[in-house]
Amino acid sequence: MSLVSQSRIVITGAGGQLGRALADRAPEAVALGRADLDITDSDAVAAAVRSGDVVLNCAAYTAVDAAESDRAAARAGNVTGPGILAARCREIGARLVHISTDYVFDGTGERPYEPSDPTGPTSVYGSTKLAGERAVLLADPRATIVRTAWVYTGDRGDFVATMRRLEAERETISVVEDQVGSPTYAPDLAAGLLELVAQHKNPGVVHATGSGAVSRFELARAVFAELGADPDRVRPCGSADFPSPARRPAYSVLSNRSWVAVGLTPLRDWRDALSDALLRVAPR
Ligand SMILES: NC(=O)c1ccc[n+]([C@@H]2O[C@H](COP(=O)([O-])OP(=O)(O)OC[C@H]3O[C@@H](n4cnc5c(N)ncnc54)[C@H](OP(=O)(O)O)[C@@H]3O)[C@@H](O)[C@H]2O)c1
Repeated sequence: MSLVSQSRIVITGAGGQLGRALADRAPEAVALGRADLDITDSDAVAAAVRSGDVVLNCAAYTAVDAAESDRAAARAGNVTGPGILAARCREIGARLVHISTDYVFDGTGERPYEPSDPTGPTSVYGSTKLAGERAVLLADPRATIVRTAWVYTGDRGDFVATMRRLEAERETISVVEDQVGSPTYAPDLAAGLLELVAQHKNPGVVHATGSGAVSRFELARAVFAELGADPDRVRPCGSADFPSPARRPAYSVLSNRSWVAVGLTPLRDWRDALSDALLRVAPR
């Protein structure tokens, strides 16, 4: 029997893209979507975590632009809820693994960010996620925080899925070239999180993303190429051409050094993962 299957795992936010990928990989886990558990409901959280040794929190308010005008909802999902989860996990000695984001950084860096680098969120989403990390560690210093970035499955509304849809709908599209990050295929991250859980060590704050870095423009070109379409139909533009309520970091590549340092397997190269993802959602 694997160490993972010996742990009783509870997944919160199991209706989201990472939560679904985790539930697929760990069918023995208790997977709770928002309708099953609102993480801001303290009594319900207490009852839900009682059945687990490990809680993987994938619940979050992730609407980056909407958060700018809905700060209260973003705080509830990203700060209050995680703080409650951490307090309840600590009470019963369960291990909390909480997911955070590259958007805690300001994006002015020139090399991949380490967990110890200074943070400086540029958006309400990023600030609430950072406050959520702090609320979690205050309530339960033994919790693990895993920061990730540019998560996609390619099948519903994420960046890769959107590029797939636009390839079918438009002759040319413009995509920003001044945002650089590391695309992370949700099933790869799910596998990494289960490896982390099986390890029974607490690395504190770690970074886990697909390996390598790419601009959104180059990622869109890669999607077109994988679909057999002409990548030159994707044109570069700047973020200023697409004004949006939230300011996103220009460079938010996360170093996987902290992940590898505790003996965990690095997630595969973003390009290999993309190829696999698109084969699964759009077989040719
Ligand atoms: N997506 C990315 O590119 C990305 C990048 C970096 C980090 N992350 C982090 O990765 C984690 C997983 O994100 P994801 O991409 O899987 O996001 P997602 O698809 O938006 O899933 C988040 C889930 O949390 C649920 N939720 C929101 N508030 C809740 C509450 N109070 N109680 C219970 N559930 C609640 C949402 O339900 P509703 O849909 O009903 O609101 C949704 O099902 C999050 O911590 C996110 O911040 C994501």
